[in-house]
Amino acid sequence: MKPLLAVLNGPNLDRLGKREPGVYGSATLEDLHSALRATASSLGADIIFFQTNHEGELLDKIGELADGGCAGAAINPGAWTHTSVALRDAIAGSGMPFVEVHISNVHKREPFRHHSYTAGVCDGVISGLGQQGYHFALEYLVHQISREKPPRSPEK
Ligand code: DQA
Repeated sequence: MKPLLAVLNGPNLDRLGKREPGVYGSATLEDLHSALRATASSLGADIIFFQTNHEGELLDKIGELADGGCAGAAINPGAWTHTSVALRDAIAGSGMPFVEVHISNVHKREPFRHHSYTAGVCDGVISGLGQQGYHFALEYLVHQISREKPPRSPEK
């Protein structure tokens, strides 16, 4: 069975392509999703996408994914990265591996973007590699999931 991965995007990421293109690029969220669909398929994974501007909806979705057997997620929490203990708790409580992705290099930007509430409960963080960061996150997750599979019992 193919593993199911999720790509989660927080506030204002629905406006990719229009929003500060000098910082976030000109590709839209739809462009990103179709490129990620191709990557997931080449990695042998199923993929679902979710974006919201409402924090509670993201918390609900994480719980739903965890209960539904999702194998791991790439998440760009947007500004909630820097504000949300609730999101950190949802990620920590999910039991799923997460990779935090930022399109921009948050460490080159304003000091308030340097702190992440969520990074400490994710396997790792990719920041500043543009939309390519999401693809690297999927690659990592598939690699991790295949390592976690119990070894096959020796043939008799
Ligand atoms: C972002 C960086 C955040 O600081 C910002 O609030 C975003 C996007 C990024 O992808 O670079 O909304 O997560």
